[in-house]
Amino acid sequence: MRKKIVAGNWKMNNDLAQTETLITELKAQSNPAEVEVMIAPSFTNLWQAFNSLKDDSIEVIAQNMHFAESGAYTGEISAAMLKSLGIKTVILGHSERRAYFNETDELLAKKVDAALANDMRVIFCFGEELADRKSGNEEVVVESQIKNALFHLGADAFKHIVLAYEPVWAIGTGETASPEQAQDMHAFIRKTVADTYGNDVANNVSILYGGSCKPSNAKEIFSKPDVDGGLIGGAALNAADFYAIANAF
Ligand code: 13P
Repeated sequence: MRKKIVAGNWKMNNDLAQTETLITELKAQSNPAEVEVMIAPSFTNLWQAFNSLKDDSIEVIAQNMHFAESGAYTGEISAAMLKSLGIKTVILGHSERRAYFNETDELLAKKVDAALANDMRVIFCFGEELADRKSGNEEVVVESQIKNALFHLGADAFKHIVLAYEPVWAIGTGETASPEQAQDMHAFIRKTVADTYGNDVANNVSILYGGSCKPSNAKEIFSKPDVDGGLIGGAALNAADFYAIANAF
């Protein structure tokens, strides 16, 4: 059975003191059974966060990494560095990385390979822009993002991949995909995986929704059969809101 996951992507928010405060508030909440809860603080606060949550079931994950093992890549972070802290999961392909840091499908394929070679789990993000949806091209765009970055992998690799559909027009805008839009796209994504890798692989891969997910809409979105959880931005910065979402299944 595929896992239910709620992951908080803190993006470039929270300094060290704010990270400690939010983690203290998160620890005061009780973790829902059968839902994996994760948070992705910034690189500078990963070590602190990891240690603060050592005895908690919340997993601390990274927002990004470089594909190289080490070398002359000023300002970058490798999988080996993350692993040395105890980090086992990394978000790759977020639309903000694609839009502001020119991350292409080709680059992301290399990052995915590097993460898997280091025994890390990948939360792979993708999603169409507003213009794509308006022109009815959302499935074409999503299919090519997934295929270009992931479909060179063998079927076994999908045990370590979580898919995160994040329509760009819904991120940080307050506009959420309707539960039906999310379900339609998630079903399409699962079928795309099934067509190449078979039903077993497709039925076991978790597909998260991201984009203005909040306590008020999470229940309905998570009730859809192909939605296995959420990747949460703004609402993950508030402990009560984040846990209201994690408890929305
Ligand atoms: P918001 O929840 O703030 O829309 O962000 C979603 C997101 O980008 C999570 O990765």
